[in-house]
Amino acid sequence: MNRYKIEGGYPLRGKTEVCGAKNAALPILAATIINGRKSIIHNCPDLSDITSIIEILKYLGCKVERRGKDVTVDSSTFISRTIPHFAMKQTRSSTIFAGALLARNGYAFIPGSGGCHIGARPIDLHLKGFKALGADITFQPDGIVCRAKHLRACRIELDFPSVGATENLMIASSLTPATTIITNAAMEPEIVNLAQYLRSVGAHIKGDGTSEIHIKGTLSPKDAEVTVIPDRIVASTYASAVASAGGSVEICGISPGLLSPFLAVMRRMGMSINCTKNGFTICKNSGLVNLPYVCTGPYPLFPTDCQPMLVAAMTTAYGFGAVREKIFENRFGHCSRLNDMGANVTVRGRTALIRGVPKLKGANVDACDLRCGAALTVAALGAGGTTYISNTHYIDRGYENLVSELAKIGAKAERID
Ligand code: UD1
Repeated sequence: MNRYKIEGGYPLRGKTEVCGAKNAALPILAATIINGRKSIIHNCPDLSDITSIIEILKYLGCKVERRGKDVTVDSSTFISRTIPHFAMKQTRSSTIFAGALLARNGYAFIPGSGGCHIGARPIDLHLKGFKALGADITFQPDGIVCRAKHLRACRIELDFPSVGATENLMIASSLTPATTIITNAAMEPEIVNLAQYLRSVGAHIKGDGTSEIHIKGTLSPKDAEVTVIPDRIVASTYASAVASAGGSVEICGISPGLLSPFLAVMRRMGMSINCTKNGFTICKNSGLVNLPYVCTGPYPLFPTDCQPMLVAAMTTAYGFGAVREKIFENRFGHCSRLNDMGANVTVRGRTALIRGVPKLKGANVDACDLRCGAALTVAALGAGGTTYISNTHYIDRGYENLVSELAKIGAKAERID
């Protein structure tokens, strides 16, 4: 069941509910090892990346129970072990265990990790931060060893507001009893959600959601509980699907403010967006126009994770558009696949140049990473004829049943062998 079959040209109508954010749930789950007690994570999405993290937690001796959308982790039974290579290969997010292992254990080994191939994805900023916190870093042929008897609070200036480095350093410093200051920190909503969890453990955190975060760790961590925020990238994917297929859909369970940089672009292209009690409606009343320049950037700028779906929606908008990718150097794999569907997209360095065509046509295409798969799904919904998308296991890393959810709002889409 690793392919989607999508017959395009059916407008989407109705309501859809957004699940919890993968990128918020992953660091929170990794952080559950630090309190040595019970943590309850509400609204945890059911995704293959989450399953991989839960497997690692179990391997580390934690008791993990999933009941519907609630995941309970008891890390009192944690055993100090190195995360196995196979687990790190499944998801790059396993790097996020390094900060938690250092805090709990004083030792972390980071083997080469997996995830989407959208750029070099170095972890130098994480390591620089661990070093500032007092860890010794040694490079070995099969991975990196981080060791620290006691982490010490410090001031860390990040060269770039990396989401993963900010999270890792917040977690690492949560059991250190003086104040660590992270400047040029990432400001994403997922960082704020992680801070909520760490506060619940007992850490004192100020400034999350701004570029300067202060973390005063706790020596007596508590049982903890947090609710995962809704997934703004999933919501943006549904919005892009309406831009491609047409129709009107209410996207529930998320405040439109959480995805305002994306919705601002959709509005400028001609989509109509209105707030509702539970979320927002997005409606396509007429043909869309392309925008001369959209550029991705760290929050609150346009999210890189939405770039592939935006390019998919732009392929059939009127006129010429350009999208510049400033976060990941290799995130245009979807463009050649969209061209196989009849799009006119040229990639020049870090910019995709899009000349809108009246309609795409169905084709056999393969997802080359998670958001590429989402972009091809978006494109297929508006295309004439049938599209077969292979490698949908990438899509399962970040979406709970994407095709069946789309089918509920009118898409002719299904999973096939
Ligand atoms: C997270 C998200 C990912 C999103 C990205 C940017 C998760 C699980 N993933 O990824 O979906 O696309 O934020 O919003 O939350 N960099 C370095 N050195 C480092 C760390 C990062 O040079 O030590 C570079 C990266 O190569 C990349 C850029 O910084 O070019 C952004 O990376 P970062 O913000 O760290 O993204 P991730 O945490 O990997």
